[in-house]
Amino acid sequence: MTNPAVPQGPFGDYQNEIYLHGLSGALPRYPMTFAELEERAQHAMPPSVWSYVAGGAGDERTQRANREAFAGWGLLPRMLVGADERDLTVELFGRTLPSPLFLAPVGVLGICTPDGHGDLATARAAARTGVPMIASTLSADPMETVAAELGTTPGFFQLYTPTDRALAESLVHRAEKAGYAGIVITLDTWVAGWRPRDLATANFPQLRGHCLANYTCDPAFRALLAPGRRDDPNETALTWARVFGNPLTWDDLPWLRSLTTLPLILKGLCHPEDVRRAKDLGVDGVYCSNHGGRQANGGLPALDVLPEAVEAAEGLPVLFDSGVCSGADVVKALALGATAVGIGRPYTYGLALGGADGVVHVLRSLLAEADLIMAVDGYPRLADLTPGALRRVRPAP
Ligand SMILES: Cc1cc2nc3c(=O)[nH]c(=O)nc-3n(C[C@H](O)[C@H](O)[C@H](O)COP(=O)(O)O)c2cc1C
Repeated sequence: MTNPAVPQGPFGDYQNEIYLHGLSGALPRYPMTFAELEERAQHAMPPSVWSYVAGGAGDERTQRANREAFAGWGLLPRMLVGADERDLTVELFGRTLPSPLFLAPVGVLGICTPDGHGDLATARAAARTGVPMIASTLSADPMETVAAELGTTPGFFQLYTPTDRALAESLVHRAEKAGYAGIVITLDTWVAGWRPRDLATANFPQLRGHCLANYTCDPAFRALLAPGRRDDPNETALTWARVFGNPLTWDDLPWLRSLTTLPLILKGLCHPEDVRRAKDLGVDGVYCSNHGGRQANGGLPALDVLPEAVEAAEGLPVLFDSGVCSGADVVKALALGATAVGIGRPYTYGLALGGADGVVHVLRSLLAEADLIMAVDGYPRLADLTPGALRRVRPAP
């Protein structure tokens, strides 16, 4: 069932709203281009938060390549289709969603807004747009409080699997109880990648005690703290650092699968053999991503590995992120086989600029542009967006 309380489209109408407001002299409050969004966000965030969010691994070649990969594809327009009604609804894990966008997990949302509750603002934006939020393990408010702000929009809980199994189990069971619609296990971040921007300022937010609310309120985590030091921030941060990253292997997957009957999605799968193996072990969804180029530099752009991942998934839903900055990018990722497309930094920038309103603006802009491209180019349904709709852009001479 779709939810009548949130906009179901046509998403392109956002431009009419903007032009009509312009008749009384009102201009959009938030940027209309990604370049301006990024620039204004830089000034809205404290420098340490900005460099943590905007930066990536190594010389950020992979991060840039993620974005540039989209320029390598072009949609071939179809005319006389009469695409006046578009359908962007998508079926995902037994639910009908108004659009194929989702908010990728970002572990510092809390400190991206001046009030320190950016996770809650993001959840409110999800409630207002129907765009699902994948809530990170790393948050400034506990997952239960975040879930309470989602309204009728589904939320997913992203698990950074700790080395302590009792803690992992507690986090998953809390997510189930809080009403999350699925568990996303991130595989590519059991150790932090080499990030020169953060190293230059010796800044790692969680080690400074930020965004650890899911741990500090968890009985299994509290049991790991030294007695008598359970409210000592240093003890909390050091214990967190000790248990945070679990270098999982395939042998751990049956245990992870056994933790929940909710849909289980593995984030960071890129190699087709990994996709096939995950499918054989009973996961419900594949999440193809290179973490926005934050983890391993020198890798392939995520968009380039998407088609092989989709083929290997053989019909299993494939979530995708890394480098998506525009509605045109969303359309291309869908055409290359993504079931749903995740946004990371762009919404985080909107969050820094305007809290929930800023996130809503970013999401509505992406959806409006995607919808209008589908209208102009004659691809009214998501099913029309296939690899056959794309052509390779000739490289510049
Ligand atoms: C500041 C920041 C924090 C992130 N934290 C998490 C996290 O807690 N869990 C996770 O699975 N991915 C995390 N990611 C990765 C995103 O989920 C997503 O894969 C990535 O941002 C997509 O690339 P994009 O920023 O180019 O859209 C983070 C990304 C950023 C930018």
